Amino acid sequence: MNNLNFFPAKPEKTVLVLGAAGRLGLAATKAFVHAGWTVWAQARKPIQGLPRGRVKVLQADVLEIDRIIESCGKVDVIVHAINPDYARWDLLLPPITAAVLHIAKALNAHVMIPGNVYNFGQELPEMLDEGTAFVANTEKASQRIQMEASFSTAADELGVSTVVIRAGDFIGGRGTWLDMGITKNLHKAVFTTMGPGHLPHAWAYLPDLAKVFVLVAEKREVLPRFDVLHFPGYRASQLELQSAFEQLMGHPLKVKPMPWGLMKMIAWFSPMLKAVLKMRYLWERPHQLSGDKLLRLIGPIPHTPLKLALREYLPKNKKSQPRALAEISIES
Ligand SMILES: NC(=O)c1ccc[n+]([C@@H]2O[C@H](COP(=O)([O-])OP(=O)(O)OC[C@H]3O[C@@H](n4cnc5c(N)ncnc54)[C@H](OP(=O)(O)O)[C@@H]3O)[C@@H](O)[C@H]2O)c1
Repeated sequence: MNNLNFFPAKPEKTVLVLGAAGRLGLAATKAFVHAGWTVWAQARKPIQGLPRGRVKVLQADVLEIDRIIESCGKVDVIVHAINPDYARWDLLLPPITAAVLHIAKALNAHVMIPGNVYNFGQELPEMLDEGTAFVANTEKASQRIQMEASFSTAADELGVSTVVIRAGDFIGGRGTWLDMGITKNLHKAVFTTMGPGHLPHAWAYLPDLAKVFVLVAEKREVLPRFDVLHFPGYRASQLELQSAFEQLMGHPLKVKPMPWGLMKMIAWFSPMLKAVLKMRYLWERPHQLSGDKLLRLIGPIPHTPLKLALREYLPKNKKSQPRALAEISIES
């Protein structure tokens, strides 16, 4: 008898990543492929930097619901990493939410959503856990509260399971506070501050967060139909970030504040910038996410040392410095 018969092949696990060309979407695609899942990677445009392995690209708009359902066949999990135009969430979030719910219902898949801290409103408390009250006192807070409520209601009424994994500002990729603001002038030895340097701020390194998505996906059977988990990531002030960059670069940095006044003027002509400026309050409120509930579910939470996570924001000539690399491996 063939011994292999005693060890039946593991059933194939399939995830559909919606928004796979985006920051979290691409990181999640890589993490799921790495963990042996088959990935359907949805995007409207060609995806740069896809990993090798079991990835099938699905070039479609998320609103092409039938095409997506027919293409994918069986899917266990859907990562909803779509992030529509920041200035038009009022118009774009509701149809995208409805489409994701429709696809999830048809495929009988568990939805995973990267949540953010907007739900807690403008006066958010310092420690944010899964019981912290939502306060809809900004547009973005009420839009995200509504979006999550749609998934919670669908869990009860349609039987679509969802888990929200809430995280702080992403470290990784372009178009973030880090590359557009804080490190924009690092090449001139200038560190740009967004607000008071000592206030702790919540950060999420994308490869760590993406690994958490995989670990939670693998535990989905024990989750309630609708659940929320907080990814702690880093609780790091801008002073701590500055110190990390100074150590990586091997010299002190000059500190300059973000020119908020000038940005306000430019925002007259840019709805996107106007929407971004409304989030300035996050730099004036200390906040961090508690990972206790996540820890109870998955055990040790993936955590890359902060200095390693920040390396991609170093000026080009510094990225390859062997000295910086040696320091990281010793200190972290
Ligand atoms: N960025 C952060 O710091 C942060 C922190 C916590 C939570 N989050 C949440 O994480 C999620 C993903 O954020 P992200 O920063 O990774 O997103 P992102 O990179 O800005 O965008 C993700 C993808 O969304 C797709 N998209 C945008 N508008 C669309 C539309 N109308 N229809 C279909 N697809 C559309 C784009 O795909 P195409 O390639 O098809 O254009 C894009 O690649 C969001 O819910 C966000 O709120 C973000």
